[in-house]
Amino acid sequence: MKQEQLNDIKLKFTEYVRAFKYRVPDWKKNIGLKEIHSWKVSKEITTLGLSIGLDRDDLLLAEAIGLLHDIGRFEQYIKYSTFSDADSVNHGEFGAEILERSSILNFIESRDRHIIFDCISHHNALTVPSHLCERSIFFLSLLRDADKLDIYRVVTEHYQNREVAGNKVVERDLEDSEHISDSAINSIFSHNAIKYNELCSLNDFKLLQLSWVFDINHDKTAQLILQREYLQMIRATLPNNQRIDSAFSYVYSILESKSKLEPGRSIA
Ligand SMILES: [Fe+2]
Repeated sequence: MKQEQLNDIKLKFTEYVRAFKYRVPDWKKNIGLKEIHSWKVSKEITTLGLSIGLDRDDLLLAEAIGLLHDIGRFEQYIKYSTFSDADSVNHGEFGAEILERSSILNFIESRDRHIIFDCISHHNALTVPSHLCERSIFFLSLLRDADKLDIYRVVTEHYQNREVAGNKVVERDLEDSEHISDSAINSIFSHNAIKYNELCSLNDFKLLQLSWVFDINHDKTAQLILQREYLQMIRATLPNNQRIDSAFSYVYSILESKSKLEPGRSIA
């Protein structure tokens, strides 16, 4: 992708989102949250791309993919008043449909369009479908990491400001009790990502966020999570007990090994 093409996508994305602003009460907390997330993911994916030496054209393509990955979120919220896919639509596939009928990719060559469509459709799948082409799988590995990095920012900021300006949309209306499901703990020890439809409490959701570590693809992502101490921030909001301690230590050790840094050492 070339710089002019990316500039055109950025302009059209901004116009697209502007049409949704002010159409819902509290737009800053939902539409605004996703708009900021989109720009942040486009920055994170560039950082990851640079860390592995992507060439200029591929960096620009990655940036576009990061910006557009949640394009389905805006119409999803307007139509269904929720970000829960289970209660509305699969926002990845929905986003690809929206992109198809929009003019956002009008000036993009088909070889890039096809990667963008694959990435948007599958960025939120539990696992990446193996039938995709190698290049789509590669860009998806970057996108899924960049997306997690920024969702860690969103949820940890939320947990820290919850009492003052907590946005319940982030918590998906889950019950804030002491409850922790055995299935959530078991998923962690069996090295499986916890599924959204298994969540019974806010604590389960926090464990799900810890379990994203299993699906991290790039060293740099693991290093940034360590450096920003996202896991510790989530741990601090969970109950203090042996089960949580063990689950946390397990996930943390996986993260350290994925970072390819010596245990106990963070990067400057
Ligand atoms: Fe998404």
